[in-house]
Amino acid sequence: MASVVLVGLMGAGKTTIGQLLAQKTQLDLIDLDQKIVADAGKRIPDIFEEVGEIGFRQLETQALRESLAQNVILSTGGGVVTQAVNRMLLKNCAVPVVYLQADASVLYRRVCGDNNRPIAKNLNLQGFQDLAQKRADFYEEVSDLTIKTDDTTPDMVTAQIFSVY
Ligand code: S3P
Repeated sequence: MASVVLVGLMGAGKTTIGQLLAQKTQLDLIDLDQKIVADAGKRIPDIFEEVGEIGFRQLETQALRESLAQNVILSTGGGVVTQAVNRMLLKNCAVPVVYLQADASVLYRRVCGDNNRPIAKNLNLQGFQDLAQKRADFYEEVSDLTIKTDDTTPDMVTAQIFSVY
């Protein structure tokens, strides 16, 4: 299997599945958030604090461009699809894009109050569900395959991806 890009909301398991895919394929894993942190030399909440979401999204687009040029497993941040330029990059890349989809209330329980996730930190359940609804079409738009991760294990999700690619 060649490289794969994982998209989906915060808490959907992109990093976990990315690690499993990287182990099995022997490809490197790029976690886009970790790359942004390494490139900027700052934690995500500090980037949001200093340059706001707009500044963060610019760093994210730059990191996405660089990562898509490499033969790696790429795990993206949940908001990557909010930018039209990123959606274009994802739709035009030659790599399969897999959408990890899960129920918003389940994801909310995993990420609410997480100080390292500035977007989720201040949202209540309704706010998170609204965000999920706003983004759902964007995930579908950029992806080649959707996998529901609610009632399954990371190993099963990984096996499903392998069975397709
Ligand atoms: C964000 C998701 C985060 C991170 C940033 C913004 C979002 O990534 O990129 O906090 O807008 O959904 P994860 O999906 O890995 O939590």
